[in-house]
Amino acid sequence: MGIVRKPKLTEIADMKALLDEAATARQVLPREMAEMLENARDFFVYVDEEGVGGLAALHIDLVDLAEVRSLVVRDNLRGKGIGSLLVEAAVEEARHLQIARVYAFTRQPEFFKRLGFQVVDRSELPYKALKDCQRCPFFAQCDETALVRPVPPAAMDGVA
Ligand SMILES: CC(C)(COP(=O)(O)OP(=O)(O)OC[C@H]1O[C@@H](n2cnc3c(N)ncnc32)[C@H](O)[C@@H]1OP(=O)(O)O)[C@@H](O)C(=O)NCCC(=O)NCCS
Repeated sequence: MGIVRKPKLTEIADMKALLDEAATARQVLPREMAEMLENARDFFVYVDEEGVGGLAALHIDLVDLAEVRSLVVRDNLRGKGIGSLLVEAAVEEARHLQIARVYAFTRQPEFFKRLGFQVVDRSELPYKALKDCQRCPFFAQCDETALVRPVPPAAMDGVA
């Protein structure tokens, strides 16, 4: 079993390869290398002895809102809880930053519902439309579901 942690920049090519494969299958939006580097600190990776086996990013939109995106687990590692670990790492980072809500746009709503996300109308998340939707080739016939999860602050946050 590997671990979930922040990536090293030497891993970004492998991260992009995983993302590209999922983007080709229309499972995630493609990201250019320049955009991935610029946002490298958004990411978490799952790493085992074979290298990068998964990734996810927490991308901040507003003081109280961030997106969980670019979530991919390598084919042969799926169904082992790694996707859940990656999402929880992103949510914990949001909690640490005291971001009140995280959201996802996805064709895998059932996966996110299991992790406490609830379906909302896409119009509730206009920042996503501004950031990504207008450049998406499937803008006109979007079949993604928007989901939101509240992120209550940790009990001890702000005390230390
Ligand atoms: C979606 C994805 C990240 C899930 O990763 P994973 O490591 O297989 O997920 P987990 O093992 O943590 O699954 C957690 C639970 O969700 C379930 N689950 C996983 N994918 C699911 C799906 N597509 N639909 C419904 N349930 C799903 C699992 O069976 C598991 O259930 P359990 O807790 O009862 O065992 C992975 O399938 C993937 O990389 N898909 C391609 C890229 C993609 O679609 N990304 C999402 C874009 S937002």
